[in-house]
Amino acid sequence: MSAGDGRAHAELAPLRLDGEPRFAWRGVMLDVARRFRPMPDLLRFVDLIAAHGLNVLQLHLTDDQGWRFEVRAYPRLTEIGGRRSGSQLGHGPASTVDGVPHEGWYTQDELRRLVDYARERGIRVVPEIDVPGHAQAILAAYPEFGVGGGDAVRARVAEPWTRFGISDEVLNVEEETLAFVGTVFDELCEVFDSEIVGIGGDEVRKRLWREDARTQTLMAERGLADEEELQAWFLGRLADRVRERGRRVVGWDEMLEGRDPAPDAVVASWRGPVGAELGARLGHDVVLCPDLWTYFDYRQSDDPAEPIPVGTVLSLEDAACFDPVPADAPAWFADRVLGVQANVWTEHLDSRDRLDYAVFPRLGAFAEVAWNGGPLDWPDFAARLPAYLAWLEEQGVDFRPLDGPRPDQQRPGVPGVPRDRAARIAELARLTATLAR
Ligand code: ACM
Repeated sequence: MSAGDGRAHAELAPLRLDGEPRFAWRGVMLDVARRFRPMPDLLRFVDLIAAHGLNVLQLHLTDDQGWRFEVRAYPRLTEIGGRRSGSQLGHGPASTVDGVPHEGWYTQDELRRLVDYARERGIRVVPEIDVPGHAQAILAAYPEFGVGGGDAVRARVAEPWTRFGISDEVLNVEEETLAFVGTVFDELCEVFDSEIVGIGGDEVRKRLWREDARTQTLMAERGLADEEELQAWFLGRLADRVRERGRRVVGWDEMLEGRDPAPDAVVASWRGPVGAELGARLGHDVVLCPDLWTYFDYRQSDDPAEPIPVGTVLSLEDAACFDPVPADAPAWFADRVLGVQANVWTEHLDSRDRLDYAVFPRLGAFAEVAWNGGPLDWPDFAARLPAYLAWLEEQGVDFRPLDGPRPDQQRPGVPGVPRDRAARIAELARLTATLAR
């Protein structure tokens, strides 16, 4: 991959970013589907990540909760899929829906401008359209592409999801639906020049496919043994279409369930080490983004004042301890690691300031890992932190103070669901059992 070195025109943050970078892909994924961010915020985000020596911005443009990419052939994707009547407030059983409409989408011209702006700063924008799951915003706009067809989907789906989590809604697997998705990716490839484009593939709920007679008939006709193979078939067809445009795909590690959908795919491994190991063994390039070290929506401490606590504790020191490719990793693995990525899911980050709070200063530690390899020497990094924090302050970044959230950064009374690290590790082992082959 020949993305720029991320240092082209940016003033660099006072971090250790000297010599040659350890990884070619030094990425951040920003979820603008859950929470739309206006263009000026995106351009500012590009400036900030460029100043951290990073060189990939993966833009998560679609999800159950919203569709943000203008598709000229299918205008309802943004007209209907780009707006929801409310958003979940908090996490878990005590959460509520705020009843505040949330909307927004980017025109193709705006996104072209973003691509140019980012390129000038050494950053490649990798767009992601998430299919065949995380599809509720699509189905609000075009219910005919859902399981059971238009009437059945209309009865289940009124609008993009006002809740967070994983919706059961998935695309159906008719040829017409594949053609629709192909057209969307054709337009995506016209707007974004990245050699690699994201197809999602994560957390595809299989219940509707399993219970639908028509889906089962299509599976039998195509010689597919189960729903995991059907998922791989779908993603493989999409990877073929993207390849016809001279591109290749990146997908989350679930893409390897069932069978390998595309030998040239990049695997983004987020659920522990298993997806990365299988991907590397199968000869894929892999991007490492294990949630325990790189999910910047996860809570930064176990202080009850931490706003809407989700996930395991991922402190600044934890981010600094990320060791993507340990010294004793075998060459067959190390050679396939294209790079690392921090993922910023935005369910609970509903303003620019809340985004800043989640991302900084953890991104400083991540950036040094991405540039130099990890883990960092914590006392050394900690000694250099005041200069970095002063720089963030100068840039107007509303970062998390080292001693915890200020009162205005807290969310008193808004429930969360803190996770325990051991429980999450056990859950990841369960979730990735289907990749053990
Ligand atoms: C993911 O966190 N669902 C990739």
